[in-house]
Amino acid sequence: MNIPKITFVSILLAVTIFFSIHSQCTHAVYASADKGNSSTQRRAYIIHVKKLPSTNLTISNLQWHRSFLPANSSQELLFSFQHAMNGFAAMLTEEEVEDLSKKDGFLHAQPNKMYKLTTTHTPKFLGLESGGGQFWRRTAGYGKGVIIGVIDTGIWPTHPSFKDDGMSPPPAKWKGRCDFKSSKLCNNKIIGARSFNLNIDGSRFGSSTPLDEVGHGTHTAGTAAGTFVMGASVLGTANGTASGIAPDAHLAIYNVCFSEGACAAVDVLAGIETALNDGVDLLSISLGASETQLYNDILSIASFRAVVNNGVLVSASAGNGGPNSNSLDNASPWILTVGASTIDRRVRAIVKLGSGVKLEGQSSYQPEKEKFNSSISLPLVYPRADFFNSDFGNCNDLKTLRDNDVGGKVVVCEGGIFSGRLQAGSNVYEAGGAAMIYIGSKNEGYRTDATEDIIPTSGINYYDGLVIINDYLASSINPTATIEFLGTQIGSNPAPAVSSFSSRGPSLITPGFIKPDIIGPGVNILAASPFSVGPLPVDPYFSILSGTSMSCPHLSGIAALLKSAHPQWSPAMITSAIITTSDLTTANGEKIMDQYDNNTANFHDMGSGHVNPIRANNPGLVYDTQPIKDYVAYLCGLGYTDSQVSIFVPNSSCSEITNTLDGVDLNYPSMGVELGRSNYYRRRLYRVVTNVGPSYMYKVIVSSPPGVIVDIEPKILNFKSVGERLKFSVDVSWDMESIKLSYSLEEFGYFTWVSADEKIKVRSSMVVKGI
Ligand SMILES: *[C@@H]1O[C@H](CO)[C@@H](O)[C@H](O)[C@H]1NC(C)=O
Ligand SMILES: *[C@@H]1O[C@H](CO)[C@@H](O)[C@H](O)[C@H]1NC(C)=O
Ligand SMILES: *[C@@H]1O[C@H](CO)[C@@H](O)[C@H](O)[C@H]1NC(C)=O
Ligand SMILES: *[C@@H]1O[C@H](CO)[C@@H](O)[C@H](O)[C@H]1NC(C)=O
Ligand SMILES: *[C@@H]1O[C@H](CO)[C@@H](O)[C@H](O)[C@H]1NC(C)=O
Ligand SMILES: *[C@@H]1O[C@H](CO)[C@@H](O)[C@H](O)[C@H]1NC(C)=O
Ligand SMILES: *[C@@H]1O[C@H](CO)[C@@H](O)[C@H](O)[C@H]1NC(C)=O
Repeated sequence: MNIPKITFVSILLAVTIFFSIHSQCTHAVYASADKGNSSTQRRAYIIHVKKLPSTNLTISNLQWHRSFLPANSSQELLFSFQHAMNGFAAMLTEEEVEDLSKKDGFLHAQPNKMYKLTTTHTPKFLGLESGGGQFWRRTAGYGKGVIIGVIDTGIWPTHPSFKDDGMSPPPAKWKGRCDFKSSKLCNNKIIGARSFNLNIDGSRFGSSTPLDEVGHGTHTAGTAAGTFVMGASVLGTANGTASGIAPDAHLAIYNVCFSEGACAAVDVLAGIETALNDGVDLLSISLGASETQLYNDILSIASFRAVVNNGVLVSASAGNGGPNSNSLDNASPWILTVGASTIDRRVRAIVKLGSGVKLEGQSSYQPEKEKFNSSISLPLVYPRADFFNSDFGNCNDLKTLRDNDVGGKVVVCEGGIFSGRLQAGSNVYEAGGAAMIYIGSKNEGYRTDATEDIIPTSGINYYDGLVIINDYLASSINPTATIEFLGTQIGSNPAPAVSSFSSRGPSLITPGFIKPDIIGPGVNILAASPFSVGPLPVDPYFSILSGTSMSCPHLSGIAALLKSAHPQWSPAMITSAIITTSDLTTANGEKIMDQYDNNTANFHDMGSGHVNPIRANNPGLVYDTQPIKDYVAYLCGLGYTDSQVSIFVPNSSCSEITNTLDGVDLNYPSMGVELGRSNYYRRRLYRVVTNVGPSYMYKVIVSSPPGVIVDIEPKILNFKSVGERLKFSVDVSWDMESIKLSYSLEEFGYFTWVSADEKIKVRSSMVVKGI
């Protein structure tokens, strides 16, 4: 057994995840643009073309795509797409792209870019186990029969989370295959496993097998659909029976990310293309790139195709760019955009200062008394680096620690953007330190993490860090501290809260509705892992990770449960059910807070609210899919050209559209309304709701944003049947009497359709902004 290597890998893993949380991971990085651009240099391009002309049936789609390559070129297509998009990927020079763009049928060329990767307890926290699991087990059959496609880093197939005991074979429509070296590694749980590493810039290491060498894909797949595993824990803490959200759903695995989780657009597209062809029901996509126009965003394009052409719901992570505003990924109206929230579990590691002050921290590593005696206070040291660089923290450099004589002491380390907690812990260990207090960065606000530390550690929040540095250390001559390890506590802090890293709206590219759509558990999530962490390998392996990468598969699993319970529901109906039934308060009835500043979270922070799967199963009314012409009118309204719109809806022409639509005009369950002084001081919106039963009469209750009048007509909806659609109007205007007009204000409100028996509440959240 190679223990140091295992530890190293886990450090790498944690550093990777840390990166994805702290560094606004989702910057688009052009794969080969940096190597200079002589016009003869080839790089990967994604080329969108029109559909094969219906007059020309003598050639195949593949031949049609090939016909765009230069006639005398030695190049071949890297991949030909017809489900995720219409077009192909190829290595081309700038000049060749220039020539190709003049051909009939060409729509758009984009260079490849890189996308980045952005539970024992969560099913119970989400209420799935309540009432004897009536909804979870009976109604939704634990997600039975539903196929979740996971676009990620592959999977560790022998993990017990992926056993298929008692599972049925995949449905007859399934066309996928298993590309593990032994096809025995697939079963009725993992029904397909593919890998796409075209390695177009020659720098993407990692074998092209579906085997997960990063850890991320195993964790997300386990969260969405892992089966029940008894006695799961990390380093003996947070123990219990682990299960995914839809433990009887099938998994189809597409490995598209290599070299520590860099995912080339071309590979991501190849994965989605194959998944759609294979027959998945849902796609779970825990990756993203920073916002760009939709026609340059392959996840937006492929998701549109998935939803509109294939009826496949796409659940995607909102990104880890919080707490900054406008930091979203995947904010297209056809994607379920998922932010991250905290859960009510913590693994306690209390800092006790020599002054008697106690500070609440966390660590998954809870050393035995023989290894770390909490009764004994040790000298406390705060190493100062020669060149203090806040990006790297003060414990990133071993020399600094040695110079500061940390041997046998409790060492205060600050989090940096580019250095992880495990790196700091490893350095403190090397330098002979006895324990570490790890302080979160300012951007993390009140966040603490139950990291799998390698030495006795307490991870405390930024403000508690200031108490140590500014109050205690500054005033003590012989500062001392110890750490008290109190194990796992459930029902601790008010949860859920919006995690500080969860990306915030509004979207600058797609305004008009609220994004993210929803928050779900994404902090300190325990799920399957290929790696053992810490000094003693344990089997089975689980790890605790945080990110919107972790909340996305929770929603994918919930969507699978809803799909299993209501097989006829469209992706838009499932999305609407999730959005309109979400919670605005914690289990104790307190408003959901923002972990960054401990203020009440608004709709830009938490989307429409926190997911409530039981209520989503009984939404009463849903906002169903737009007619395709509405999407064309919307894309034209974004100012896109006919070619750009045709990437989404083939053969579109904006000149044939009489009225373009704004995002706020789409039949979306939430709305972001802009009101001006002269134009648009009043906005009339229309919505259509579909009755999914069992009630027939609804009346509206409006909670207007302050200073705004919201008038809805009619105020009562009387349905005659299930499946019937009724239209209503929403007039939004300034309340001239009660406010002095201030046109920069932004206010939050909602309206709710309430059933006659008041059991069903269908809430639409609203942001009104003065312009
Ligand atoms: C390379 O191409 C990019 C994008 O087309 C352009 O912005 C940049 O100026 C070019 N660099 C050189 C050295 O020509
Ligand atoms: C069909 O398309 C191919 C490839 O572009 C072209 O060579 C051929 O002439 C076309 N045939 C017709 C009838 O348009
Ligand atoms: C292909 O042919 C064109 C036009 O005849 C020529 O300019 C170009 O250099 C050729 N390319 C290759 C790779 O031979
Ligand atoms: C979890 O660990 C605690 C503390 O060691 C122990 O009391 C409890 O029985 C464990 N639970 C399970 C399910 O193993
Ligand atoms: C911890 O230290 C205290 C005080 O020195 C001592 O009484 C106790 O026995 C120690 N516990 C262990 C497990 O070593
Ligand atoms: C956060 O705010 C709540 C309510 O205002 C308060 O009770 C709590 O003490 C605050 N938490 C922290 C860590 O300041
Ligand atoms: C594209 O649209 C135009 C105008 O709407 C129509 O005449 C043409 O037949 C369409 N082409 C295809 C391939 O559908």
